[in-house]
Amino acid sequence: MTYVRNNWYAIAWSGEIGEALVARRIMGEPVVLYRTAAGEPVALEDRCPHRFLPLSMGRRKGDAIECGYHGMTFGGDGLCRRIPGQETIPDTARVRSYPVRDHMGLVWIWPGDPKLADPALVFDLAQYHDPAWEVVHGEALHVRATCLALAENLCDPAHVAFVHQSTLGNSAHEDVPIEVEIADRRVTTTRWTIDAEPIPLFRKLGRFEGNIDRWQIYIFDAPSTSVIDFGGAATGTGAPEGRRDDCVWMFACHFLTPVDHDRAVDHWLVVKNFRAADPKDNEVLKDQLRMAFNEDKEILEAIRAEEERVPDGRPLRIAVDKGAVMMRRIVDRLARAECDAVATI
Ligand code: FES
Ligand SMILES: [Fe+2]
Repeated sequence: MTYVRNNWYAIAWSGEIGEALVARRIMGEPVVLYRTAAGEPVALEDRCPHRFLPLSMGRRKGDAIECGYHGMTFGGDGLCRRIPGQETIPDTARVRSYPVRDHMGLVWIWPGDPKLADPALVFDLAQYHDPAWEVVHGEALHVRATCLALAENLCDPAHVAFVHQSTLGNSAHEDVPIEVEIADRRVTTTRWTIDAEPIPLFRKLGRFEGNIDRWQIYIFDAPSTSVIDFGGAATGTGAPEGRRDDCVWMFACHFLTPVDHDRAVDHWLVVKNFRAADPKDNEVLKDQLRMAFNEDKEILEAIRAEEERVPDGRPLRIAVDKGAVMMRRIVDRLARAECDAVATI
């Protein structure tokens, strides 16, 4: 399994992490999360070094965790503070402590080399902090598929016309060509559909009378961050030339986390250029997006089952795959660079 470890991954919504011990998994490794009295998130290896009981089955002792089996106690730095029944604490009595950060309503974890965990590398979207835009925090979509399969889906505007006919797509987009641009870790896949009927989601918002020019710009920062810049403006108002003063505009952000070799989580949220007149409107938007993302889940899990049935089947490549193929190459390159770096230490 190809994992890129030196990267910030969303592991939980910030609001989910507090006093209680929360067990999660990333790249097959068990992690326990909690928040100190001062409000700082902590992530530790969820495995006591004594007999390997998950620490998440223990209890909080101030800002530390006491193991639920024999009471060894570990601080937020992973070092053992106490071993009941003995005075000395060996150096090996420790668990791994992961760098963590709160940002954009999420807790981010760095599973790679802690020395490289630069907080400036946590993903940011300027509009998230802009009061002119509204944030709708979504949910965590659990998918039985590899993280790469989810990533492929998010480099692929072409599926929208077929998978999301009741929400995000319609047949007007089916044959519109897709442009792909590559820059370092980023794959940008763009599709403009000019002078077409509004998609069902835009109809629900009740915004457009006639046809629209619609953009779907899928920005994927390998290995785990997808921002879908999408929207529409009345045809003839100049959106393709860059005038977006009167439009529906949203950034759907997807933060992918590999749970293990065949499970992944997508924490999603939306930032949009219009405020809901009534909070219920945001629930309608969330319902629509939840429905759409569940359609992706259904597709990806069905594909996964078929891949398991025929493990060495090779997929046929077609023109719309370009973005996904480039993305896989970048992820491979990043993963290989990490292996090479370890090999030369
Ligand atoms: S298993 Fe944790 S103290 Fe024994
Ligand atoms: Fe989709």
